[in-house]
Amino acid sequence: MSKMGFFTHRYLFHFFLLTSAVFILSWLLVLRSAGRTYSIDYYKLLSIAKNNNLYANLQARASINEEAVILSRNSRKCDSSEHILKVFMYDLPSEFHFNLLGWKGRGRGVVWPDIRSEVPDYPGGLNLQHSIEYWLTLDLLNSEFTKNLGGRSAIRVHNSSEADVVFVPFFSSICYNRYSKLKPNQKRSINSLLQEKLVTFLTAQDEWKRSGGNDHIVMAHHPNSLLDARTKLWPAMFILSDFDDASDFDSRKTLLYFQGAIYRKDGGIIRQELYYMLKNEKDVHFAFGSVQKDGVKQASTGMRSSKFCLNIAGDTPSSNRLFDAIASHCVPVIISDEIELPYEDALDYSEFCVFVRTSDALKEKFLLNLVRNITKADWTRMWGRLKEVENFYKFQYPSQANDAVQMIWQAVSRKVPAVKLKIHRTGRFSGSITPIERRD
Ligand SMILES: *[C@@H]1O[C@H](CO)[C@@H](O)[C@H](O)[C@H]1NC(C)=O
Ligand SMILES: *[C@@H]1O[C@H](CO)[C@@H](O)[C@H](O)[C@H]1NC(C)=O
Repeated sequence: MSKMGFFTHRYLFHFFLLTSAVFILSWLLVLRSAGRTYSIDYYKLLSIAKNNNLYANLQARASINEEAVILSRNSRKCDSSEHILKVFMYDLPSEFHFNLLGWKGRGRGVVWPDIRSEVPDYPGGLNLQHSIEYWLTLDLLNSEFTKNLGGRSAIRVHNSSEADVVFVPFFSSICYNRYSKLKPNQKRSINSLLQEKLVTFLTAQDEWKRSGGNDHIVMAHHPNSLLDARTKLWPAMFILSDFDDASDFDSRKTLLYFQGAIYRKDGGIIRQELYYMLKNEKDVHFAFGSVQKDGVKQASTGMRSSKFCLNIAGDTPSSNRLFDAIASHCVPVIISDEIELPYEDALDYSEFCVFVRTSDALKEKFLLNLVRNITKADWTRMWGRLKEVENFYKFQYPSQANDAVQMIWQAVSRKVPAVKLKIHRTGRFSGSITPIERRD
């Protein structure tokens, strides 16, 4: 499967343009509607865990967090221009990253591929689920070749004294997925060896000693990745996957959700008819109206509390709503006779979508019977699959303004004031102290 091959499809290009546009729009709306939001709950892609609690009690932690928020408010006030996160990335040997993808270095001492001419592919299929490290690394490498900083949330800097955070480019998820098994003559797996090497490398770096690791970003997106090293690197910020989508079958009270424009070309008639068919069903949300002000958040909340989300023909491009449904883990019900779906060469949509012919959808009670007849077990299986495939839609290279990669950098940026505060406090009496010495 060739990643670049994906992007040559014209429909995909359009799909990305449109999803980017929707993201810009939706983020503007979310930001405006919530004043200054510090959380990214619309985009529940990841959680960034900051281990503050190991040598501070709960109370101290709460106070640190409060001040962090105050600090970031102030800094927003004085500096209204967009802040670009400055990231120092270690030149870790390629065995920690692109070699794991099968890339062979080009000569001694060459750590990174020249991404202007070659972008090594990430293995497809389920691996993509935990591929954040790859896209973030590519984005940092790419930041050196782009002059236009518009839409960029992070850039790579080579002087670590000028950096806000330190990025550890270890592809831990693929390392776990591909290199955990012992080969016949091995005593230890590559996954285990690399983790040990990583800890040795990091703790010997000046950057690590200076901050006690607090300003380091370590990626452990696969829940089983980096298991040996996590506790040893605990002061760092971890980028983890967010698996706790608590809204399962029983907690999603709405059976079927649709919110959209009332009339669009071919889909108009179907919409009207469906509306009259469904409007009096009490577990169905069927409403017309475009998304305004709080609309994005509301629609996202609506989808997150629904079992099925309607995707009706004529919604050009259907992919917007489809994308939102997938991101909300709401099983899409696609009413269309010929819809073009992104990545259909790699994904079997029938595993996580329900397809209905237009002529069937317009039969009395057909749609409701169909979705009511889907058992909890079947729905839960599709829901699980949605959570697996959603990253197919989130990442792209090169990254664009406000896409998933930029969202992650922005989330990291919001942690920076708290991190700086913590580093300064830790160093009050002794200049530089590693947290381990402070523990007792
Ligand atoms: C790195 O940045 C610091 C702070 O701006 C500066 O004092 C130092 O000279 C820089 N180092 C190099 C090698 O440029
Ligand atoms: C759903 O189940 C009902 C009752 O068991 C049945 O009459 C109906 O034909 C089924 N509908 C579909 C679309 O499978």
